[in-house]
Amino acid sequence: MKIVYHENSKVFHLWNECISYVMMVLKNGQLGHLYYGKRIHDRENLSDLLELAARPMSSCSFPEDKIFSLEHIKQELPGFGTGDYRSPAVEICQQNGSRISDFQYQSHRIDGGKPELAGLPATYVENQQEASTLVINLQDSVTGIRAELFYTIFAEGGILAKSICYHNEGLQTVQLERAMSLCLDLPDCDYEWVQLSGAWSRERHVRTRKLTMGIQSIGSLRGHSSHQHNPFVVLKRPCATEQQGEAIGVSFIYSGNFLMQAEVDAHDNTRVLVGIHPDAFSWRLEAGESFQTPEAVMVYTDQGLNHMSQTFHRLYQKRLARGKWRDQARPILINNWEATYFDFTEDKLIQIARKAKECGVELFVLDDGWFGARSSDHAGLGDWVANSDRLPQGIAGIAQRVEDLGMKFGLWFEPEMVNEDSDLYRMHPDWILSAPERVKSHGRYQYVLDFSRKEVVDVIYEMMAKILSEAKVSYIKWDMNRSITECFSFGLPPERQGEVYHRYILGVYDLYERLTREFPEILFESCASGGGRFDPGMLYYAPQGWTSDDTDAAERMKIQYGTSMCYPVSSMGSHVSMIPNHQVNRQTPLHTRANVAYFGTFGYELDLNRLTEEEIQEVKQQIVFMKEYRTLLQFGTFYRLKSPFEGNEMAWMVVSQDKRTAVVGWYRIMNVVNGCFTRLRLQGLEADLCYRNSQSGSLCYGDELMNLGLSTTDATAGEVAAGGESCTDYESRIYLLEAQFEFSHF
Ligand code: DGJ
Repeated sequence: MKIVYHENSKVFHLWNECISYVMMVLKNGQLGHLYYGKRIHDRENLSDLLELAARPMSSCSFPEDKIFSLEHIKQELPGFGTGDYRSPAVEICQQNGSRISDFQYQSHRIDGGKPELAGLPATYVENQQEASTLVINLQDSVTGIRAELFYTIFAEGGILAKSICYHNEGLQTVQLERAMSLCLDLPDCDYEWVQLSGAWSRERHVRTRKLTMGIQSIGSLRGHSSHQHNPFVVLKRPCATEQQGEAIGVSFIYSGNFLMQAEVDAHDNTRVLVGIHPDAFSWRLEAGESFQTPEAVMVYTDQGLNHMSQTFHRLYQKRLARGKWRDQARPILINNWEATYFDFTEDKLIQIARKAKECGVELFVLDDGWFGARSSDHAGLGDWVANSDRLPQGIAGIAQRVEDLGMKFGLWFEPEMVNEDSDLYRMHPDWILSAPERVKSHGRYQYVLDFSRKEVVDVIYEMMAKILSEAKVSYIKWDMNRSITECFSFGLPPERQGEVYHRYILGVYDLYERLTREFPEILFESCASGGGRFDPGMLYYAPQGWTSDDTDAAERMKIQYGTSMCYPVSSMGSHVSMIPNHQVNRQTPLHTRANVAYFGTFGYELDLNRLTEEEIQEVKQQIVFMKEYRTLLQFGTFYRLKSPFEGNEMAWMVVSQDKRTAVVGWYRIMNVVNGCFTRLRLQGLEADLCYRNSQSGSLCYGDELMNLGLSTTDATAGEVAAGGESCTDYESRIYLLEAQFEFSHF
């Protein structure tokens, strides 16, 4: 990897084996964008790549010069009001009411490694050789605001991370009305825009549309990244597939309101903007103050979507997630939520844990309902003290009983919320986000605590830390079950109310940081009514997240498949639950529920006491299988093979680093009668290695499995008797492939 500045042409070129990123100082002093994509040669005059053309009716920057028009020039930090009519990356309201800005090059430096972003989650390096960072200072001379642009290129993979820090070095106080983290101006619009969208219980479905003139966008104004849209998009060439072709994945490391948009102009240029959603954002920047934007990460590939995803998986698994659990296979857990909801006693929980222990489960998680007056969702949030009617010896007592069974104990919290019926609310009614003289909208009968106030975060920290110090807690599920309304803080003056959404998220990050530092042994799992805040910001603190409240196997295929576009298998909380399923009332076979959950952190969300002896034997085998292969499943190279959004079948696989072992998951939604012969063309195997197929016992070379494919034909393609197995709807199979010997060329 290298970063070069060509003095004469004023060109910056960042490159590694995969990508090049080229910029230049324009003749008006602003920073122009020249190229982002597959690596190109370096040369002094890459400034030739600047495209200029006189176009009628354009606004121009210089007298007698009809071609230098910001309307048509690709830029790195386009501002508002100086001739570029596309959406700006920055907008600053000044004391005289002007919103015009003009950021011009001042200086730059090139650093080894990558700096931290104070108070914000971000990718990191473990040594200086892993990445280099170019820092460019631009300044707006009228306001004195300096924009410090950070570009980090990683040594491996087509990865580029960007963020901007604004420093008010002028004399006047200004309002930052828009501070996007990333602007990428592309020279054409021949892309499909892929987004991960949905709703509660159907998060991150893959949706694709062709870019067209105008603005297309996704975002959130809910105060969390949301079930509706994930802060991730892909711009792919229409001919790109999972296996080949060009794609640019863009991910935003942030958990609050966000905007990702692509604007195609009249000449087919595409401007991609990513950052904190400018609606409902306004940051007062007094002289001497700074504002750091969150980080955006781009991955370029010319080898298809699987390759792009694998690059994100590696980066987010190894250089975004942190702590003891980052590299460790995750414990197989049982969670009591769908087994009991609020209806439990300590003895009932211990019965569930005991049976789980007998089956081989390692961690028992006590979900909602253990604290304060929490007998339903109407009360108790905010009072993080064990309910003594249910748990006579407190959390320490039940945790010890679980430990005595030979299991670890985990606990649910919803730290950001409060019920009106709680001691905390009675003591501090002004600690919630709510506006004077306005209705206080509730969500699930609860209010959002004002985490923009340090004293609120402090009190929640104290309550949580007390429990964690007194009891043996090995895991925390951190939930968040409603979006923000009436976003107003009683702790901030009128001119700072535009900061509340962002300050709230900073408060959440602060609490996470304090707890993960103070209790480094604890495994954190983030959750927001399932996948309402499943984003890279959370991954920095919690290496896994509850992917969705929908535990149905067929629904989970789509959700986990979509999630895998950006996020690694090790980050996806996935459990086997009861049938009929509690969300969709569907019956799916026990093995299919496990076959989907294996591609995640794996656990159970039911009372195993309610299963038949035959089912218990099956569960025991599932756990034995998962224990043996979880490191491979969670940390191997993951490939999507067949999309559940395109047909009746779905398939994915993981391959070990040495390529000697692979696990293939194949799933069929509806059974078919007298169906065709079906095959799966596998990926990532070693062509010369001969693999034993666990299902058929057959031996095949990697080249056969990748070119002809693995046969998935079953009894539905002929008579049941002939096939010897009877399939049904929601059928699935796991194929374990283990290398036996290598082809010898004699
Ligand atoms: C929503 C979560 O997603 C569920 O798993 C469960 O923890 C409930 N909240 C508890 O209220």
